[in-house]
Amino acid sequence: MKLSSLSPKGILHRVRRKTAVQSIQPGDPGLPKHVAIIMDGNGRWARKRNLPRTAGHEAGLQIVREITQECVRLGIKYLTLYAFSTENWRRPKQEVSFLMNLFYQSLQEVTTDLHHEEVRIRFLGNIDQLPPKLTALIKEVEAQTAQNQRLTLNLAINYGGRHEIIQAVRGLVQKAQEQGLEPEKITEDQFTRFLFTAGQPDPDLMIRTSGEQRISNFMLWQTAYTELYFTSTFWPDFGPAEFRAALAAYKKRSRRFGGIKEGRRK
Ligand code: FPP
Repeated sequence: MKLSSLSPKGILHRVRRKTAVQSIQPGDPGLPKHVAIIMDGNGRWARKRNLPRTAGHEAGLQIVREITQECVRLGIKYLTLYAFSTENWRRPKQEVSFLMNLFYQSLQEVTTDLHHEEVRIRFLGNIDQLPPKLTALIKEVEAQTAQNQRLTLNLAINYGGRHEIIQAVRGLVQKAQEQGLEPEKITEDQFTRFLFTAGQPDPDLMIRTSGEQRISNFMLWQTAYTELYFTSTFWPDFGPAEFRAALAAYKKRSRRFGGIKEGRRK
């Protein structure tokens, strides 16, 4: 919408938003440490352009690169991207195999560059059920980038939040049986060590593109106090500028973690 067609209140809102977005600078302590993204809307983006859904996924991959780059630039330490859920196997066979090939090819292409930029690539999900070639590459990429510390890029592939919790319960129960651990001595901290994200902070901000406003089985345990940001933009149109708008919105949130704001104790 053109500025001239906006009301004075609308103009003020635009200007404030622009100023907030411009205030997003590398190393800002108000930035989230960990951002998780549900990249949604690739199919609809393609349909709007009379293109096959797969073209939407290809365009989406470019945005993955741009947002990863932006996180490196801004000094955000963890970025988690939901690329394929345990429910996505229900899609047409052709689309599933296209996505598996896209994951394989893009990993082959970008790993060297990301490694040079000191990005650690990790995978969340049941990777042993993926095509064997992809599973092998994933293990290689994780090993190659394991020591990098600038940004941790978690790619959730064949990931489901409930599945993650169940496999963590299994691991913990096994440990409890082996070590004779009393059920009442089990802590949240011990439990999180069996999650795919063991050792990582919970997401501070979760973004979902495409206008849907739900979590869709993503990081169910980890998002207990995560700030949510929904935008109607389809993932292939979600560039660094809109990412910074989401970060600016996050900076304005008041996070209380169930407590009360500092200085308001009376
Ligand atoms: C959701 O849009 C998107 C996906 C299920 C796939 C996301 C994958 C990419 C962006 C490629 C990323 C590659 C790597 C290596 C991380 P949708 O298909 O559900 O869109 P729709 O809701 O409009 O149909």
